[in-house]
Amino acid sequence: MSGKTILVTGAARRLGSAIARELHATGANLMLHYRQASAAAAALASELNAVRPSSAACLQADLLDVETLPRLVADTVAHFGRLDALVNNASSFFPTPLGTIDLASWDDLIGSNLKAPLFLTQAAAPHLIAVQGSVVNITDIHAERPLAAYPLYCAAKAGLLGLTRALAIELAPRVRVNAVAPGPILWPDSGVFDNAARQDIVAHTLLQRAGCPQDIARAVCYLLNDADYITGQVINVDGGRTAHL
Ligand SMILES: NC(=O)c1ccc[n+]([C@@H]2O[C@H](COP(=O)([O-])OP(=O)(O)OC[C@H]3O[C@@H](n4cnc5c(N)ncnc54)[C@H](OP(=O)(O)O)[C@@H]3O)[C@@H](O)[C@H]2O)c1
Repeated sequence: MSGKTILVTGAARRLGSAIARELHATGANLMLHYRQASAAAAALASELNAVRPSSAACLQADLLDVETLPRLVADTVAHFGRLDALVNNASSFFPTPLGTIDLASWDDLIGSNLKAPLFLTQAAAPHLIAVQGSVVNITDIHAERPLAAYPLYCAAKAGLLGLTRALAIELAPRVRVNAVAPGPILWPDSGVFDNAARQDIVAHTLLQRAGCPQDIARAVCYLLNDADYITGQVINVDGGRTAHL
């Protein structure tokens, strides 16, 4: 990936930062998108630039503001001169039991998990086509097997999985579009899963443990770097949880 440029959304923390580090280690230049985590994004860019000068930069945007999405792509190309890959990782995640769902939740969950990846990919498409680039969408195993009390989030991720397959068709043969679906990797900061829920989730993995961010990062790296004949697919990285959910 030496000399190539990758835009990762939600790259400042947690899985996004692990994906960015893994891709950077392959020699790629990284545009790190963040929304609120400015200090973490700046620290990650410094860390990566200390390894290879001028190989990482940051861009701030609220992805719910669809008007700004073409700017993210344009600023990436203006900074690094090209765009080879897009990783749609940014996401909001919170429960929406039926009866509590309002338009604000709809806009947030559908906006960050489905609408933004679509409009960002649309803006990136001409640049990706020019260099035979690639897209990886980070979905969730609950796109296909919904999680109770999270109907909007699961529908948004199901939409993103469908979009992955549809865009693989739209952008073929020049651009590959795939998805990585994490299982239990990092528990949400919000504390929505208590200890009992966590134990129950882990007990339903075949490997009897949660994964780590590098498991997701390596799958993304594989799809971008080593999967020339794979498009329109999803890799479940879930310790076997979907095998017997
Ligand atoms: N963690 C897991 O075990 C797990 C399991 C299944 C699926 N996933 C999926 O894997 C991906 C990464 O997971 P994660 O747990 O690392 O995610 P996360 O911490 O919940 O969110 C990642 C980033 O998304 C950004 N974000 C959220 N709403 C945004 C908006 N409106 N505009 C711009 N940025 C926004 C935030 O950036 P700022 O902090 O800069 O505001 C946040 O740091 C997500 O797509 C998630 O659905 C994760």
